[in-house]
Amino acid sequence: MKKTFYILLSFFTLASCSNANSEENKKEKFIDSLLSKMTLEEKAGQMNQYNGFWDATGPMPEGDYQKKRYKELKNGQVGSMLNVIGVDQIRALQKIAVEETRLGIPLIFGHDVIHGYKTMFPIPLAESSSWDLELMEKSARIAATEASADGLHWTFAPMVDISRDARWGRVMEGAGEDPYLGSKIAVARINGFQGQDLKDSLTIAACAKHFAAYGFAESGKDYNTVDIGLQTLHNIVLPSFKASAKANVATFMNSFNEINGIPATGSKFLQRSILKEKWNYKGFIVSDWSSIEEMVAHGYSKDLKSAALSAIKAGSDMDMMSYAYIKYLNNLLDEKKISIDIIDDAVKRILSVKYDLGLFSNPYLYCNDVREEENIFNDRNRALALDIAQESIVLLKNDANILPLKKSGLKIALLGGLAIDKDSPLGNWRAKAPKNSAISVKEGLIKYNNNTVKFQKGPKLFKNPTFIDGHLNVNNTDTSGTYSALKLAKESDYVITVLGEHGLQSGEGRSRSNIKLPGIQEHFLKEIYKVNKNIVLIIMNGRPLDLSWADAHIPAIVESWHLGTMSGNALASILYGDCNPSGKLPMSFPRSIGQVPIYYNHKNTGRPGPSDYVFWSHYSDEKNDPLYPFGFGLSYTNFEYSNLELSKADERTINVKFKVKNIGNHSGKEVVQLYVRDLYSSQTRPVKELKRFRKVQFQIDEEKIFNFVLKKNDLGFLNDSGNLVFEKGEYEIFVGGSSKTNISSF
Ligand code: NOJ
Repeated sequence: MKKTFYILLSFFTLASCSNANSEENKKEKFIDSLLSKMTLEEKAGQMNQYNGFWDATGPMPEGDYQKKRYKELKNGQVGSMLNVIGVDQIRALQKIAVEETRLGIPLIFGHDVIHGYKTMFPIPLAESSSWDLELMEKSARIAATEASADGLHWTFAPMVDISRDARWGRVMEGAGEDPYLGSKIAVARINGFQGQDLKDSLTIAACAKHFAAYGFAESGKDYNTVDIGLQTLHNIVLPSFKASAKANVATFMNSFNEINGIPATGSKFLQRSILKEKWNYKGFIVSDWSSIEEMVAHGYSKDLKSAALSAIKAGSDMDMMSYAYIKYLNNLLDEKKISIDIIDDAVKRILSVKYDLGLFSNPYLYCNDVREEENIFNDRNRALALDIAQESIVLLKNDANILPLKKSGLKIALLGGLAIDKDSPLGNWRAKAPKNSAISVKEGLIKYNNNTVKFQKGPKLFKNPTFIDGHLNVNNTDTSGTYSALKLAKESDYVITVLGEHGLQSGEGRSRSNIKLPGIQEHFLKEIYKVNKNIVLIIMNGRPLDLSWADAHIPAIVESWHLGTMSGNALASILYGDCNPSGKLPMSFPRSIGQVPIYYNHKNTGRPGPSDYVFWSHYSDEKNDPLYPFGFGLSYTNFEYSNLELSKADERTINVKFKVKNIGNHSGKEVVQLYVRDLYSSQTRPVKELKRFRKVQFQIDEEKIFNFVLKKNDLGFLNDSGNLVFEKGEYEIFVGGSSKTNISSF
């Protein structure tokens, strides 16, 4: 039966009004008065950010470079520093800024606190698989607690870049391919880092990055050119940034890439027109590391001076490591290429964040040694890291319910170097996590010692040395170690093999053109399969991989990503059924690299097929659909969706009601998902768009009724000017446990 919903077109404007309260007035007065005392040099100093350049608790810096920076610091020509770690270092540098510079303006210290500080949570892509916003907020809060207890004020996170390309190594740092899920996660993380009040010394300022479209680097190659249309920009790329701005994220970071011919760092369109004017954003924008200078290499700026001019005009407020503002703002002003207003605006924004952090009241607010002891890496933090690691694991395949495993009486062969790796699960961007501080899979499994678990490494993942110039030296040839591993596999009831990527194989600069298991791991897996087919394959990785062979042969596949400090315990609890897997993929897994970029919310095309005849939109050597779609993940139980009913509350609102029942033999959580398709409109719309989700626990046989309300902005789209368009039309509504659901209103 076909149910059609006609929606009447209507416009209404939401008036936004901001009444500065007295606290705001006080702040404004303070900042204006400070600004009036500042020289141009000091203003440019506030806009200048340096990497830590010497041990500030040691003797005076040596070397010309260090001496010069030190002099600038004392002159008030530095406003912020990054990568300075620990209360002692931060206090020592802050003391110079506060006591030795003319105006005593405190520094703001930033660091990449991406998925934990010392207690490591799953990498952001993994955490996103939990679809649990509350837990993600909590993990960001703990990261903030630990980082602030170590003296830090500011994290360069969350990365809210949407990406559809598994080749791009930085997908590990984001929330995947979907703008709706990505926006919700962005807000959860910002709220976690920033809390209710930035002055609270347990919170830190967040940074929505990389503005914008960094996740659309051509061919998945990091730092590469981005060329996308306005439709993709407004409807896919920008929503998570807009949500971040709305959630009052303290700062933004611009991006390395050019977009449609203009480097993002020099893009007035992005930074001034959209972010600061249209979205009325009041925080400041920091450049990415040397991204101002890189506009020269882009072929956009003639030299560093003209790069500084483009960046400041475009709205880039703070210069991270290009030395462009400190060198040239003075000249640019003298030459009347810029006005003092533009500089004042940037400085005010930076001072305002410092004010909000409470640094003017107490520059050492975050430098408390007692807090450092109490807050970092404690049992409470690790307990949350375990919770979220469990929620982040995605069960991709479980033929004949091979999982969960019995807790006793089994002979298990544990194979693969990653099974004993205590470092890789920490993932990339690991802040201050001690090396090898993760619980390995082997350590996790040992708890269930009523089974006999024997370990063999199999062939090496890497040659010696493991790294050459930051690149992993992957073993592509040496099969030694295979024999003993296969012997053990043959003698065992089950094989648990842990394969995938090293923790530093994804992240910045780690693009891959081949997304199969690196090195000879797939070959090793095939060899194991020849001697024992009862294989549980645990994948550790920072991006979707091509698992087609494994999917066709291996009965159980567990996607574990890089799960952080508590990795091994989380995995063991899933394998033995103490915890029922509930993660769902935030990114599609391709069948092969040729399908990339692949994403569920694609367009239909004029020739969607399928057809027996050749002329339709498809590959002649590959299926169109992904191996594992967005939103997909199995459980040890099954959920049944039924009774989908739609009703119109008014001309702009649809009520969606349906029933979900746990029809299996385990209690468990389901991520209930709702998708919309706009069947025709003045701009073509994707075949499905996620609009609501909820993660809910079900007991055995339990059924629940869900009521979701869809409003105008869920049904409309953004036009080329970024304005919401809502058209009369027909919509199909889907509900289910993945984007592949075909339970729909038609
Ligand atoms: C470059 C990265 O792109 C950015 O995300 C990071 O915050 C900065 N480096 C600082 O480490």
